[in-house]
Amino acid sequence: MVPPQRQQLSPGRRRPEAASDWRLYLRLLRYIVPYWYIFLFSLCGYIVYSLGSVLLADLMQFLLDALSETVSPKSGIVAGVAYKLFDPGDTPPLEFARVALPLAAIALASTRAIGFFVGTYFMNHVGRNLIHHLRCELFNKMMVAPSSYYDSHSNGVLISKITFNVEQVTGGATKALKIFVREGLLVIGLISYMLYLNWRLSLVFMIVAPFIALVVVAVGRHFRRYSKRIQNSMGDVTQVSSESIGAYREVRIFGGLAQQEARFYSASQFNRVQSLKLAFAEALSTPVIQTLLAAALALLIWFALSPENLAGFSAGALVAFLTAAGQLGKPIRQLSGVQSVIQRALAAAEDIFAQLDRPDEIDEGDLRVDRVHGEIAFENLFFSYPGTDQTVINGISLRILPGQTVALVGRSGSGKTTLVQLLARFYQPDSGRILMDGVPIQDYELANLRSHLALVSQNVSLFHDTVFNNIAYGSMVEATMEAVVAASESAYAHQFIENLPQGFDTLLGDDGGGLSGGQRQRIVIARAILKDAPVLILDEATSALDNESEHRIQRALENIMQNRTTVVIAHRLSTVENADCIVVMDEGKVVMTGNHQELLAQGGLYAQLYNQEFTD
Ligand SMILES: Nc1ncnc2c1ncn2[C@@H]1O[C@H](COP(=O)(O)OP(=O)(O)OP(=O)(O)O)[C@@H](O)[C@H]1O
Ligand SMILES: [Mg+2]
Repeated sequence: MVPPQRQQLSPGRRRPEAASDWRLYLRLLRYIVPYWYIFLFSLCGYIVYSLGSVLLADLMQFLLDALSETVSPKSGIVAGVAYKLFDPGDTPPLEFARVALPLAAIALASTRAIGFFVGTYFMNHVGRNLIHHLRCELFNKMMVAPSSYYDSHSNGVLISKITFNVEQVTGGATKALKIFVREGLLVIGLISYMLYLNWRLSLVFMIVAPFIALVVVAVGRHFRRYSKRIQNSMGDVTQVSSESIGAYREVRIFGGLAQQEARFYSASQFNRVQSLKLAFAEALSTPVIQTLLAAALALLIWFALSPENLAGFSAGALVAFLTAAGQLGKPIRQLSGVQSVIQRALAAAEDIFAQLDRPDEIDEGDLRVDRVHGEIAFENLFFSYPGTDQTVINGISLRILPGQTVALVGRSGSGKTTLVQLLARFYQPDSGRILMDGVPIQDYELANLRSHLALVSQNVSLFHDTVFNNIAYGSMVEATMEAVVAASESAYAHQFIENLPQGFDTLLGDDGGGLSGGQRQRIVIARAILKDAPVLILDEATSALDNESEHRIQRALENIMQNRTTVVIAHRLSTVENADCIVVMDEGKVVMTGNHQELLAQGGLYAQLYNQEFTD
């Protein structure tokens, strides 16, 4: 089975990459701005490192001139400095060099080492901060994404974005940044030194530069393409695993083992193939560049050893020059090798930025109310889910008075859950209005609107935390033990919680693992009760309970429903008989309203559903 997003990836998609690459770089660099002083510090470290490396090459001239006993202040930069600092007086040059050379070598090497440490550590500091901020920003962004975003992305793919994709950028932000700055500076240093020694000869070496650039660019393009595919396939791998782990019972009972294994295999296989292609390009580019460099070096030696060149060059200077040229190999190789990391980072950054640029949930209202009265009105509401053309809410008008208990009933798929989701502004209606206390709900600040709603949704969601924290969640974190106990008593949950190994401090597994379905539901009801919001929405809140618990919760809820507006959605009509008003929905429309007796007397859908339940 091929997960859909892979098919959308056209392998040959060629876009003008250069321009957008720069935009990507610049955007990533913006995360560095707050740490510019650390970045600068690190840069200084690397400059010291690169200077140290260059001067170590320069030391060769000192050494060779000392061997041929021609050492003088002109035997390179280090020699010049040594002569200036410690006037040798009458000391024979060889004696002077014997002391000065090792001392210079130690001084240079240790300065270079300090430069390396400062550069590396502080560059990591910058990179890690970048990643941390990027990851948090991505997570925060996902927390405020509109519901439709979650409908159209699998959890696995989203998790993979936060984990894998961000980690890909880490490679670019730490390793690549480091190598880029360090080796880049080294190359600049070495080339400047070579130009300083003999610019004409240096130009010979430069002949290969365009060829190297060509290889780097060509390979880079491949890197990017494969990186994107690897990234997407990691999304698939995460998705298949999280799905299979979550549904391990279904997988086993329905004999889906082979199927899941095959899906996982194909996702992982795709990943393997793309990774190998990347590795191929990566492994090929280094030796090609190395060969080019060797050719350049050969050419250089050929020119350098020509009689007219030798005339203007001391043996020491020539060796120093060749040492510097030879030293160029490593940084250039590293710079081209880091390409794959950079391309991977850019591919990931592109995806992350695309996520960051998505619109948030619409939150344009600024009305804040301490506590609403709980009057709710739906006015001629139409809605279809984004990306579908089925009209799920088809012209609903309904008025719920403060303190009223309204039951929404109707066949499965008639739009009951959708209606309350619209009230909580999880989606925007296509037309029509929803009013809370006479004010359109989009005029409220989103968080304020939701603070007035306590929702027990159809899918119970618990957190990997203690029972207490699961009840006193979010805005109720400050709740006292008494309040939590009272809420759990009302939800008929207190007794079983007390019987748990650590009572309220028992840690729940993922999504309430370790509790029965009904127990989970009661914890969620307790959470809603504790919130004490003016509007309480119970969507199939008692569906997993036995008759007795349901009956008791029903009674407890009756007290709680007293001074608040309550919307109850229930399949079992016996549980909503006492509602002030029962709204019967069918195919996105309100087909009947009234109390139990009136509706029964009217006959029609309600009576039909009721009788069905009764005979069942
Ligand atoms: N996220 C979604 N994206 C697209 N369509 C959806 C989505 N959620 C629900 N639907 C569709 O909207 C219609 C109404 O769904 P809704 O969940 O409101 O029904 P319901 O009355 O709550 O049903 P039930 O009693 O089974 O809970 C269904 O046809 C369903 O297929
Ligand atoms: Mg529903």
